[in-house]
Amino acid sequence: MAKLAKLDDIVSLCKRRGFIFQSSEIYGGLASCYDYGPLGVELKNNVKKAWWKSTVQMRDDVVGLDCSILMHPMVWKASGHADKFADLIAECKKCNSRSRVDHLQDKDAEHSDEHTTHADIDAELATAHDMSNKVCPACGAVGQFTEPMPFKLMFETQMGANVDDSMLVQLRPETAQGIFANFKNVLDSTRVKIPFGIAQIGKSFRNEVTTKAFIFRTREFEQAELEFFCEPGTDEQWYQHWKEARFNWYLDLGIKKENLHFRDHDPDELAHYAKACVDVEYKFPFGQGDWQELEGIANRTDYDLRQHQRGIRSLNNWFESDKDLIRTKLIEESEDYLKGPLSYFDDQNKKRFIPYVIEPSAGIDRSALAFLVDAYDEEEVRGETRNLLRFHPALAPVKVAVFPLVKKDGMPEIARRIYDDLKGLFNCFYDEKGAVGRRYRRQDEAGTPFCVTVDGQTKEDNTVTVRDRDSMDQTRVNTTQLRTFLREKLDL
Ligand code: GAP
Repeated sequence: MAKLAKLDDIVSLCKRRGFIFQSSEIYGGLASCYDYGPLGVELKNNVKKAWWKSTVQMRDDVVGLDCSILMHPMVWKASGHADKFADLIAECKKCNSRSRVDHLQDKDAEHSDEHTTHADIDAELATAHDMSNKVCPACGAVGQFTEPMPFKLMFETQMGANVDDSMLVQLRPETAQGIFANFKNVLDSTRVKIPFGIAQIGKSFRNEVTTKAFIFRTREFEQAELEFFCEPGTDEQWYQHWKEARFNWYLDLGIKKENLHFRDHDPDELAHYAKACVDVEYKFPFGQGDWQELEGIANRTDYDLRQHQRGIRSLNNWFESDKDLIRTKLIEESEDYLKGPLSYFDDQNKKRFIPYVIEPSAGIDRSALAFLVDAYDEEEVRGETRNLLRFHPALAPVKVAVFPLVKKDGMPEIARRIYDDLKGLFNCFYDEKGAVGRRYRRQDEAGTPFCVTVDGQTKEDNTVTVRDRDSMDQTRVNTTQLRTFLREKLDL
């Protein structure tokens, strides 16, 4: 029976084995920022590769994109982020620390049902919040909060050196807007036809009020987002399709079914652009085993393309009228709007419409944490504790480790040759230092699925042992069959 991982165990293994380090650690660290070490970067790249493979490579109806992080400020006006992307916060009058109102617990509450979603700030402001029994997470004071107020989440920076023409720009809080802004470019330069999707993986930034639990909620993070464009009226069917596809992606990569579920958003929780949203949640080992969001799947309707259409058309008088443009209710569909550059003409059925969008939006760092937690195991082997990461082979940072049993009798030379032969196929690791048992344990902790050992018998019959990480079983394989054997086992 697999042992449940505690977050402390994971953090300590990540540091010890070079998965994840605190950023700027030599200067005492920078809160909520993390660096991926030699094993961590491989894990993270593998998570991205697996997402890209299933979302882009294996599909005929999705193309990829890689947009810049800095975008024209009007993108954020039109998208609504400049005005609405904020959290409701309150300040403790005792210790001056600020907290997200939706994260505060009432005194005597059993546990938190905190959600990470940034809901529509207008709706949040319009809701009455009873602060009289709320506990300050910093100093423990009860009922000492100020009235709730909005706190903007986008980081800002200055672009350009000249005082006159430098411009205030934002670091993107989601990668999605780069996709909407390139919708027409992709339509004009490829042969895509609706229904189709545009996928992107990249960094996003949010000045989160509360960060949390290692790499779970940070201010700089990576997202993998798909905007899937479809005809209005078919959106519900695509929403169901992507819900299922994304849930299965985690299961196919080894996440245990009992640790994964869906949670539908309540209407008052929906982001400003969404008609419906469901979270894929994972049972993370913080709090009392909290179900927390891994990924959101939203029906964004035609909100974004319409808003950008509106933005483009009002380019010249934007600053006079931006309040009206963004604050007004979405306008009714009109002929005029349909003629704009962000509409779509369906030549087969001779009709023009603004596509609806289904958006599965995953966090790469959060998924990496879930894969680490889910793979973590401890077991007793001959009176000793064996720590291991039972990663799916596609995610394992190192696929095969190659060892000579001892550093003599020509074994290192043979092992090196095998290593050189295999490293063009998979990420491999060569190790000849220390007792072989310890070398196996190190690879178990790194999650390496197979260890190949050259021993005394190798010279006689050209066979090596292949040790399986999970069962610890050892099989003798002829070196001429090794590539095929490992390829089949790893299924890569
Ligand atoms: N474009 C839609 C969007 O950005 P979101 O629910 O705010 O939706 C999507 O974010 C995913 O991005 C989340 O499910 C989570 O995995 C990841 N994410 C969001 N904020 C994060 C943060 N501060 N730190 C780490 N991951 C985050």
